[in-house]
Amino acid sequence: MTDLLTMVDRSKLPKHIAIIMDGNGRWARERGEDRVYGHYEGVVSVREIVDACGELGIDYLTLYAFSAENWNRPKAEVDALMELLVNTIRKEVDDLKKNNVRLHVIGDFASLPEVCQKEMTEAMEITSMNTGLNLVLALSYSARQEILFATRKIAEMAQSGTLKPEDINEDLFQRCLNTAGFPDPELMIRTSGENRISNFLLYQLAYAELYFTPVHWPAFRKQNLYEALLDYQRRERRFGKTSEQIQTDFTPHA
Ligand code: FPP
Repeated sequence: MTDLLTMVDRSKLPKHIAIIMDGNGRWARERGEDRVYGHYEGVVSVREIVDACGELGIDYLTLYAFSAENWNRPKAEVDALMELLVNTIRKEVDDLKKNNVRLHVIGDFASLPEVCQKEMTEAMEITSMNTGLNLVLALSYSARQEILFATRKIAEMAQSGTLKPEDINEDLFQRCLNTAGFPDPELMIRTSGENRISNFLLYQLAYAELYFTPVHWPAFRKQNLYEALLDYQRRERRFGKTSEQIQTDFTPHA
């Protein structure tokens, strides 16, 4: 099999990749196993993709690990997922530090179990000086909530007189989101054959290339990531301009 990595153009990589890791349950069921087994195997894919992004020099990788809507799953599955998150971070934090990966969390942090908040806070602190890959975990995350909270924050500033309505612009809005300071994802990958965004980074994905693959998350490996990157590199990102303009203009945000 050709190693797809040799075909990836290192000069045209996205700075930020966002992934909806879907299909853990189906992958496990297809093997006659409990859904939670799929989540455990999903962690192996997480490790592999974090590793690949680090090797490629990707700046940001955002993983949708637990949505605000996931609280509605059976309690046993929610508990197992929280335990898995805590144990994985506890086990991996030394390697994250060694591999120059900086951990961030976005989402409704206060709604997470205390032990999870504590583990995440410690890991973010331990990795805070790292300068390589920024690994962003979306936990108890809802893009609509994020946009509503940003709006509320801006309304409060306007009401208190610290901000004039005419000063509200994209830059200010972005600074009020959970992802303040992060570049927008240029590539969003969703595994497992669903072609939806499901309340993930709705504001930030405005110009992202969307890549959907039938591969379930626990089966998603480095070669699958390279395949997604090759697909991304074949696309022309126009940002509303014409194809002719893009051929002669390399400043898409101008
Ligand atoms: C979606 O599959 C997956 C999740 C809701 C959880 C993803 C979490 C992990 C892979 C663990 C992450 C761990 C770290 C440390 C980031 P699904 O259960 O919705 O699958 P289905 O659609 O087949 O039911």
